Amino acid sequence: MAVTAAAPALARERSYEEVEAICSDLDAPFALVDLDAMWSNAREMLGRAQGTPIRVASKSVRCRALLASILERDGREHPARPGAQRGSPGFRGLMTFTLPESLWLHGHGFDDLLLAYPTADRGALAELARLDAERPPILMVDSVEQLDFIEAATGTSGPRVRVCIDVDLSWWPLGARLKIGVKRSPVRTPEQARALAAEIARRPRFELAALMGYEAHIAGVVDRPLGKRIQEPVIRAIKSLSVAEIAERRAAVVAAVREVAEVALVNGGGTGSIHTTREEEVITEITAGSGFYAPTLFDRYSSFSLTPAAMFAMPVVRRPSGGVATLLGGGYLASGAAGRDRLPSPHLPSGLRLDPLEGAGEVQTPVIGAAAASLRVGANVYLRHAKAGELCERFNSLHLLSGSEIVDEVPTYRGEGRAEL
Ligand SMILES: Cc1ncc(COP(=O)(O)O)c(C=O)c1O
Repeated sequence: MAVTAAAPALARERSYEEVEAICSDLDAPFALVDLDAMWSNAREMLGRAQGTPIRVASKSVRCRALLASILERDGREHPARPGAQRGSPGFRGLMTFTLPESLWLHGHGFDDLLLAYPTADRGALAELARLDAERPPILMVDSVEQLDFIEAATGTSGPRVRVCIDVDLSWWPLGARLKIGVKRSPVRTPEQARALAAEIARRPRFELAALMGYEAHIAGVVDRPLGKRIQEPVIRAIKSLSVAEIAERRAAVVAAVREVAEVALVNGGGTGSIHTTREEEVITEITAGSGFYAPTLFDRYSSFSLTPAAMFAMPVVRRPSGGVATLLGGGYLASGAAGRDRLPSPHLPSGLRLDPLEGAGEVQTPVIGAAAASLRVGANVYLRHAKAGELCERFNSLHLLSGSEIVDEVPTYRGEGRAEL
């Protein structure tokens, strides 16, 4: 299931006519990834990482073949290291999102796996305990309760369970009264992190292998929100104050935990924060995933730009009136707090938009705008998802484009029968 290697062409956005010509033998709906754009995005992210290795977020790719081909890329293309040889910092390891997924990937030869979210899957934990591997997947924990749960599910025999402490990096400008960030780990201070590390060290079942903190309110929040220009300076100010606070606190947390255990791996960041996370000395690796596909939520950052790489084609099946073309299906909404920015966006041909009264629907999506009038039954409209990997939950395969042709078709997680989250 090797992905045909793509030439490292500089990505440019393709025209509608070009994509329609390349895909003329396919019947929509189908999903595609433009490899030229994807590798260009990969170079952009490596450029911002400046030599810090990037761990690839599997949830944002959800295609085993693409994950493998990303990890196979060595450092030769690293913009900060021209001429660097294989093994130099580039993409290293996966950040996974469920334990069954991690075990499945492990069975397929992926051996550097950091599971980013706590698990309560007893069956998968029992399977992990039976795994005979030098480097089993690392589990995420943030409480003693979870340690108890893992111990109960994995039993007392077998190799030690490697764990990572998740540290809350949200910003609390007014003490506990105002919290800007996501509701994840309760471990926030160096003292709390040291106490949990000590508890892990005390229990023979565990090995403390890593520390992770995801600054979601920096990495995952755009600073040029759609239709909200007035908020831009406020968002930027919050981000820059929070980045400074995180740098100080993360260093203190790492120092406190290292009083208890020699933790080599310190992970942080996401696509939207590569360039700020890499500034911190204690960081040994950064996570990124969405940047490969560049969904629409990543169009609105002021400090970097990516090329749309993943999209899906829906067929025009009827013309209710001159200015409307109606597509079959298309209602692939992104997760998160519901809002306009979670809807898919018509991408090609340009000059199309969703009908505000219908949005993107389960069985039909009308598109309006200047280009709609010229769309005939059987033509395709190419849309982009608001988020990255969620697109793969809608399609069994991805058609891979490079140059002027489709060079491969590879199964998504769904296409391999995987239903993770
Ligand atoms: C723990 C963690 N790290 C990193 C990321 C960043 O992923 P991406 O680069 O796809 O935005 C996420 C995204 O939700 C995450 O949950």
